[in-house]
Amino acid sequence: MSLKNDLLIRAAKGEKVERTPVWLMRQAGRILPEYRAVRAKLGGFKELVETPEFACEVTIQPVDILGVDAAIIFSDILVIPEAMGLPYQMIEAKGPWFEKTVKTPEDIKNLKIAQAHDLPYVMKAIELTKKELNNRVPLIGFAGAPWTIFAYMIEGSGSKTFSKAKKFLYTHPDLSHLLLQKITDSTINYLNGQILAGADMLQLFDSWAGVLSPEQYNQFALKYISQICDAVTGVPFTVFAKDAFFARKQMGELNCDTIGLDWTMDIAESRLLIGDNKTLQGNMDPCLLYADYDTIKNETQKMLKAFGPHRHIANLGHGLYPDLEKDKVKCFVDTVKEFRF
Ligand code: CP3
Repeated sequence: MSLKNDLLIRAAKGEKVERTPVWLMRQAGRILPEYRAVRAKLGGFKELVETPEFACEVTIQPVDILGVDAAIIFSDILVIPEAMGLPYQMIEAKGPWFEKTVKTPEDIKNLKIAQAHDLPYVMKAIELTKKELNNRVPLIGFAGAPWTIFAYMIEGSGSKTFSKAKKFLYTHPDLSHLLLQKITDSTINYLNGQILAGADMLQLFDSWAGVLSPEQYNQFALKYISQICDAVTGVPFTVFAKDAFFARKQMGELNCDTIGLDWTMDIAESRLLIGDNKTLQGNMDPCLLYADYDTIKNETQKMLKAFGPHRHIANLGHGLYPDLEKDKVKCFVDTVKEFRF
């Protein structure tokens, strides 16, 4: 069965499109009252992630409500550390928290390499969502990039500096590589499982790329992202490394289709550094959506013109903030959908 709206897939592959496709990072979530209603019925965030029927429902909500050109499966990057042996909790208003963290060689040895069947609820949620979407739009699967997952496994929670995780890189480089390789192997199994379950496209999130130096980023992050890009094939693949402006040239050499940009990255400069063989995704500052409607429309059109008609997927430079107004978010989506070159 073929997709009724395949703009995203065609743009990712560099094919001609009638208009620029648009979706939003964190499009399923607290900006939607409909999401908050489902969430309120349940025990918490994890129950939502782990119940395929609910995950499916909130995955499809932004397609119906915002009119985006893709759905992204409702889950979290932290399901991988959990499948490897480090369970997480999502604490209201605080974020993720791990009871056990990685400290010793023993801790690394005891972690398992996750297989897709260790995350049956994600696979079922993808299968169910594909069925319910009925090919209206593509379904995006995702995972965290190895460095970002490593950072949570060492740190045990969010952090401004991720200095514990960086200390581990400086003081135990060999052990760091051992752990990063285990995460990489797990992520490859997980993403290939998502393709088998029905994902039409995949995205890797390296949310904490920006705390590393360029040299560390090559050594401890890009090396593993590159392995994943080589081992996961069959659907278009996006790499989004937040704040990794220094790595754009190397990102252009990855075996992937699309590179995500955040709002600090100049569009023309990014195109020059990354080259013409990649689609670029992004990169509006989510805070623009606090502005008035005219400003949102003007800035969005400016962004579309700067990227041009080819090889662009419109998105934000990072996820939506929970206190953004739904109608302003919709204004961004509608402006992209109405624009023609
Ligand atoms: O709509 C979508 O984008 C799909 C779902 C999705 C979630 N998390 C749901 C979620 C995706 C793609 C993620 C990825 C994710 N999770 C990342 C990478 C992207 C990024 O933002 O940089 C990271 C770093 C995480 C880890 C994580 N999950 C944090 C730090 C938090 C707490 C911050 C917050 O917003 O509360 C989460 C929780 C989380 N994941 C929420 C959602 C909708 C909010 C939880 C809630 O509903 O209470």
